[in-house]
Amino acid sequence: STLFDTLLRPTITAAARSERIKQTSQRWSVTEKVVRRFVPGETLDDVLAAIRGELDDGLAVTIDFLGEDTVDESQADATVAAYVSLLEAMPGLGPVRPGALEVSVKLTALGQRLPEHGAKIAEENARTIAAAAHQAAALITIDAEDHATVDERLAIVRSLRQDFPEVGTVLQAYLRRTEADCAEFAATGARIRLCKGAYAEPPAVAYPDRRQVDEAYLRCLRILMKGNGYPMVASHDPTMIEEASIIAAEFDRAPGTWEHQMLYGIRVDEQRRLVESGARVRVYIPYGTEWYGYFVRRLAERPANLGFFLRALAG
Ligand code: FDA
Repeated sequence: STLFDTLLRPTITAAARSERIKQTSQRWSVTEKVVRRFVPGETLDDVLAAIRGELDDGLAVTIDFLGEDTVDESQADATVAAYVSLLEAMPGLGPVRPGALEVSVKLTALGQRLPEHGAKIAEENARTIAAAAHQAAALITIDAEDHATVDERLAIVRSLRQDFPEVGTVLQAYLRRTEADCAEFAATGARIRLCKGAYAEPPAVAYPDRRQVDEAYLRCLRILMKGNGYPMVASHDPTMIEEASIIAAEFDRAPGTWEHQMLYGIRVDEQRRLVESGARVRVYIPYGTEWYGYFVRRLAERPANLGFFLRALAG
């Protein structure tokens, strides 16, 4: 593993948890300029404009109202209200291709970590958002967070899918358990977003080196493509992108039965190239004021992003 992995990644990830660094950083205006590359704005109008831009270019979207790890029930309620307002505003975008609109939701933003009944509150909140999404003809996917939250999240997803079968979730290839989770969800026809994983995890639960993670990603992808579900290939990695089409063809998947996904601001040209080649591509767009945790994970996963940040600070 590289110096970046051993030294910088843990430092940055630890920094993400520091309230003091967070407050300082959020005051730096130069940081804000850099953040804008990954987060198009803080308001509903900002995100609606970004959605419009992606749809006009032939992409689909998934929207993340930023926030995570709340231990304040009123903040969880505010997050639900923000998602409901967003979903109520979506029909105003006019006619869109079916399935083009989606929201991505973190259960820890909906109260999963509240000291009492956290899981129950998060599930009820997710159910409210799923109902609003259904009303707006939009999809919903539950994001993956650190490994300690996986069992509870998957239980909530199973329960939500009884009423809203289109509820999807994220599985992280770096976790040793994920092949088994892929098999389960692929068998039940679920929408599954496969990503490598973005949290600092102990080797007991996650593969420690990149090559192992890449191999696990491809094994998981085969399971999903072979199954009855809708695989969502969330990666910027040229190898994963290329293999996705190869594996899909191997299992005779028709176009439109799976899709690529990338983050807003990352490999934008590649996103357009894939659309032009006839592939389905969805862009993950985060918005809101609570951008810190999201932004730091983007810096930690790629030295080039960090370089971009440091150059902007210096200049
Ligand atoms: P990785 O970072 O391994 O990079 C591999 C290669 O991709 C690089 O060598 C380079 O060639 C190319 N590349 C990557 N970034 C590039 C850039 N900025 N410019 C040019 N080339 C670049 N994680 C999580 O834990 N829970 C979640 O819920 C989600 N959700 C999610 C949704 C979506 C739509 C995406 C795309 C990703 C996530 N993730 C996530 C994040 C994910 O786990 C992972 O951290 C990042 O996607 C980075 O991994 P990649 O597979 O993209 O490539």
